[in-house]
Amino acid sequence: MSKLRALVYDPNEVTLKVLDQLLVPHQKVYIPVPTVASAHAVIKRMNVRGAPLIALVALLGLTCDIVSKHGTSDAAGDGDPGLEGYVMECVGTLKTSRPTAVNLFNAMDELEAVVKKLNGKGVVKAVKELAERYLEEDLASNISLGNHGAKAIENMWSESNPKDGLNLMTICNTGALATAGYGTALGIVRSLHKEGKLGSLGVLETRPYNQGARLTAFEAVEEGFPSARLIVDSAAPAYMRGRVVHAAVVGADRVVRNGDTANKIGTYALAIHCKEHGVPFFVACPSTTVDLKVETGGGITIEDRGADELRKAAGAPEGIETWNPAFDVTPAELITGIVTERGVVWKGEDGEFDLEGFLGGQG
Ligand code: MRU
Repeated sequence: MSKLRALVYDPNEVTLKVLDQLLVPHQKVYIPVPTVASAHAVIKRMNVRGAPLIALVALLGLTCDIVSKHGTSDAAGDGDPGLEGYVMECVGTLKTSRPTAVNLFNAMDELEAVVKKLNGKGVVKAVKELAERYLEEDLASNISLGNHGAKAIENMWSESNPKDGLNLMTICNTGALATAGYGTALGIVRSLHKEGKLGSLGVLETRPYNQGARLTAFEAVEEGFPSARLIVDSAAPAYMRGRVVHAAVVGADRVVRNGDTANKIGTYALAIHCKEHGVPFFVACPSTTVDLKVETGGGITIEDRGADELRKAAGAPEGIETWNPAFDVTPAELITGIVTERGVVWKGEDGEFDLEGFLGGQG
């Protein structure tokens, strides 16, 4: 568990504040999130980001919003005939914040289903319990998937017994700042580090928002990961050619039925470089990031962050047009294994992932 907190939630006072990740690592400023409008705003502006964290902030923001109006008793909100409608409206609003990470949509759909069954009784209590359960489960599932991933990579290289530890690469930020506090792909790194088996970590800067340079580098320094190095995105293949890299580990915003995976723009390039250099490429995510409703990567909506953000980040002139997708899709064929809290999904003899079989029809 990291010392860093992307969100601070008080279940007694029912308050939420989030670390403004646009200011990290230079400042640590927390933004209060008392309403659905403020939850929507911090997600959309990317003050908070990362697939699991987005879902948590949406759930907890909605909880704070309705608790502030109705309190926390078992019957809170029962006298308000408009409450169910209000919650549904909030769900609709929160779903418009960012389109690619499925965690938000899964969380909102579950909340909607729970509330609809209540016939107006105990809505506030049920929303609060659901949000708090997600918070607890995210941490537990990250620890579990971190340990599964670490073991899988250790086993893969056990015969060559790398005495200086395992050398990993990663992109974007998938750590404590993207989750409830442990991380997915960076959770694997954390688990290896805990066992004293991490040799080095190559951190891609992750243009144009630099989540690698600002956030993962920050976590790596805070955690004291050995030989953690920041690398510009375009140096990835040269880095792999010049040294032994045992695995690349990346997160996911949505893994679809055939294993195609949407993640931060640049992930696809990293996977291609891994293939070229014989480096195993692992996707790490809780099973709540798997979307069995979508067959292949072509069905994933990819967010475009627009021209202003890219021009500003790149120092480009006003007149230039842009194409600024926040994510890309890595085809399943480039993925070695998908690490979840339930274990690692490997390809079958047919060379395909069977995510539905692995997850037992859920996810
Ligand atoms: O645009 P961001 O910063 O929200 O993108 C985040 C990523 O792509 C992460 O890799 C993904 O959400 C997994 S976080 C555990």
